[in-house]
Amino acid sequence: TTVPPVDLKNIQGDILAGIPKKFETTMFFQISNDVEGFRKRLTQIVPLITTTTEVSGHREAISKNKEEAAAQGRKPDLLPIVGVTLAFSQFGLKKIGVNDPIGDPAFQAGQLADAQNLGDKGTTTNGTFTPDWLPAFKNQVHGVFVIAGDSHITIDARLVQIRLILGTTIHEVFSVTGNVRPGDQKGHEHFGFLDGISNPAVQNFDTKPFPGQETIRPGFILLGRDQDPNIANRPAWAVEGSFLVFRYLSQLVPEFDDFLKKNPIVLPGLTPEQGSEFLGARLVGRWKSGAPLDLAPLQDDPALGADPQRNNNFRYDFPEDFQTQDRCPFAAHVRKTNPRNDLESLGISTEKNRIIRRGVPFGPEVTKDEVTQKKTLHDRGLLFRCYQSVIANGFQFIQHSWANNTGFPIQKPEVPGFDPIIGQAADPTSRTMSGSNPQNQTATLSLPTEWVVSKGGEYFFAPSISVLRDTFAL
Ligand code: HEM
Repeated sequence: TTVPPVDLKNIQGDILAGIPKKFETTMFFQISNDVEGFRKRLTQIVPLITTTTEVSGHREAISKNKEEAAAQGRKPDLLPIVGVTLAFSQFGLKKIGVNDPIGDPAFQAGQLADAQNLGDKGTTTNGTFTPDWLPAFKNQVHGVFVIAGDSHITIDARLVQIRLILGTTIHEVFSVTGNVRPGDQKGHEHFGFLDGISNPAVQNFDTKPFPGQETIRPGFILLGRDQDPNIANRPAWAVEGSFLVFRYLSQLVPEFDDFLKKNPIVLPGLTPEQGSEFLGARLVGRWKSGAPLDLAPLQDDPALGADPQRNNNFRYDFPEDFQTQDRCPFAAHVRKTNPRNDLESLGISTEKNRIIRRGVPFGPEVTKDEVTQKKTLHDRGLLFRCYQSVIANGFQFIQHSWANNTGFPIQKPEVPGFDPIIGQAADPTSRTMSGSNPQNQTATLSLPTEWVVSKGGEYFFAPSISVLRDTFAL
């Protein structure tokens, strides 16, 4: 049987296209006992949900306007957009009476039940593990709205509109606003590294992938579409939806910077500052500019980092890459989370493990006090969000079986160790990695702090627009 192609008007805009944003509010809610009221009011919410077609149209308008403005020697116009994404947890689906199983055990159990397996910290009493999470995520969250846009004003206006429509049929359990960082840190996460460079292209949607950007079949992101590994077990309402994994990840930036400062890579010709910068790049696998170590192993190349035609065009397939850490440590964050040729050269495809990431930083810039005290005093980090069609192949696999697994990537001469950025250990002070110093690759570096701390999250399902309208709404 042939699977129909994807319908871009039916797929929520955040999944394949990504809503352009400077600010983003994520609002978690529970549905009240007036379930019928909620489902009736959902009818008025549906027109507010952004489609993939709308986002693509907006992006085209922006680039056309930029070209025209350049030709006319004027500044491009501001073309505001506010985008809305809506997704439900398993508890939310159950609440609205959608009971047939979607065919994803991790989603169906919820992220709280997965916390210990993911390596999140917590306490065990009478055999029950409770993670150190924000209270909202320890209760059952039913759903989430993500509202993204150019300004607080447009986002807040949309939020007010949603609140007016839904009224008392929901109550909000937690809201958090993320924002793109200021000035030259635009697009960089809080440790200072350019983010959002590498996402897979999706066949029939991203028709002009950047060099090095792998194209994956749509069913690895969208349920019920070509190559969905579980296509045989999906109810009709699951088709063209995607699992949205949310994680609230705090980042200990002053502590991370202090570690880099105290452990510079010592090499002839490097100042201590350059040695610290180099260590940071070895931990991530890219320089702060975005330049990948596999292409720029010895020094930063900001022009490379900024150039989408080149900054993702690498595979860890230089002759020395498979067996040495000359160019990039095996455990570097981007190599752990997308090992490229490390697995493909062994005949293992990573297509099913790819995710589409749509995170945004939250919290203030580091203050002077925090720098002096080398200690986080204000919560900041990443509101991590990603899409996939099977959570056990995507987010869960990357976190549990790659980042937290010291033996991954496999068949290397040295034990790679933990992903220094997101790897979580049973004893958080015990983490190590090899290869941080390219001149002494068997030496292990102790990573005494987990600088990324999970404060919770949930597994959600972002349904297609027609399902929201015709099946979930009344
Ligand atoms: C890439 C930082 C959490 C998976 C990156 C990049 C940075 C980064 C700087 C390079 C930019 C790019 O290639 O787009 C962080 C930080 C995190 C975090 C600071 C936590 C606060 C996570 C989590 C996962 C993840 C939780 C999944 C479990 C990935 C993947 C890539 C990536 C798949 C792309 C790798 C590639 O294709 O080469 N991250 N990340 N990250 N990250 Fe993270």
